[in-house]
Amino acid sequence: MILSSKGLDIKPSSTLEITAKAKQMKADGIDVVGFGAGEPDFDTPDHIKQAAIDAINEGFTKYTPASGILPLKKAICKKLEEDNNVKYEPSQIVVSNGAKHCLTNTFMAILNPEDEVIIPAPFWLSYVQMVKIADGVPIIVKASKENNYKVTVKDLEDALTKKTKAILINSPSNPTGMVYSEEELKEIADFAVKNDLFVVSDEIYEKLIYGDEKHISIASFNEDIYKKTIIINGVSKSYAMTGWRIGYSAAPEAISKIMSNIQSHASSNPNSIAQKAALAAISGDQECVKKMKVEFDKRRDYMFSRISEMPYISAIKPHGAFYVFVDLDEVLGKKYKGEVIDNASVFAKLLLDNEKVAAVPCTDFGFDTHFRLSYAISMENIEKGLDRIEDFLDNLE
Ligand SMILES: Cc1ncc(COP(=O)(O)O)c(C=O)c1O
Repeated sequence: MILSSKGLDIKPSSTLEITAKAKQMKADGIDVVGFGAGEPDFDTPDHIKQAAIDAINEGFTKYTPASGILPLKKAICKKLEEDNNVKYEPSQIVVSNGAKHCLTNTFMAILNPEDEVIIPAPFWLSYVQMVKIADGVPIIVKASKENNYKVTVKDLEDALTKKTKAILINSPSNPTGMVYSEEELKEIADFAVKNDLFVVSDEIYEKLIYGDEKHISIASFNEDIYKKTIIINGVSKSYAMTGWRIGYSAAPEAISKIMSNIQSHASSNPNSIAQKAALAAISGDQECVKKMKVEFDKRRDYMFSRISEMPYISAIKPHGAFYVFVDLDEVLGKKYKGEVIDNASVFAKLLLDNEKVAAVPCTDFGFDTHFRLSYAISMENIEKGLDRIEDFLDNLE
């Protein structure tokens, strides 16, 4: 039987794979430290859970409008105006099953076959597959460590062709934790407007920024870039709601309409109960976000300072999200128990097999010389896991 060649070309998510493997090892009684987590280890705050319980008790359990309920869309518009200085009408908002779903809808709405999307590397691995699902062509532009793993307009210019349709910007970034400054974003915005390109701006980690950096939405600069931007956001990371599956997009109305139409056939509305929970999250007390951030910040400091003291590896201190992107610099070419480590996948496999530490090799993130450690796990586990990594590095030959 001949199956879809497009479908066969889609790779499984290696982050989910490594997390699943670590979970299985744990279930088998092995003491594994999993640094793979792409989700906060905190519980969803009580007032959000209560809103969902109320929704069930009130019978809010039927279909809703495919692109989401009006009160939630209004709350999202209010949030976007207050937090991000961008004005949207509810008709420009589409609520979907997580930011992942919003991104897939976006690419399906803006791409024609063979349209190119510039994706700066390192990138969150799903972007490449999503563009392919929508018949687009991902064009990877590698950012340099010297520029804090962020692309410059010069990098984008070099990748520009007649087929370029969009640029993907993810700030704060998964996997690097880097945040684009206002100046950097302005330059990218001017470049996009000049070349008539869309900007898909994934702002899912917006609330998790530490120190003096601040989040800027690229759509906020002027009317020209506003008309070219699709903002992607959601409640998964900020409110510890990964399992609830609520994300949203804000875009020019014509694009939102296409996304809404696609969604109405592909999946209908996102879960009605989860929409009520997301409404409570976005419009409720934001103290819960601050508390989580304080804890993440402590872990970030600890993890970064430990890594900085270890032999053979290095990292740039992240400013956002909950990941440290670690360069294997001097590890590559060394041996562990006789086996040569020549890329991040070999490193991660040996680390898991020998030290029972799950780290994400960034091969599928466009950087096979780096791995990613998440600090969305307890401090106790961070300490234990880092001790083991240190032990592993001490045994390199
Ligand atoms: C950069 C980035 N965007 C989007 C998502 C997807 O978020 P959601 O759980 O809302 O689908 C993730 C999740 O890992 C992410 O890291």
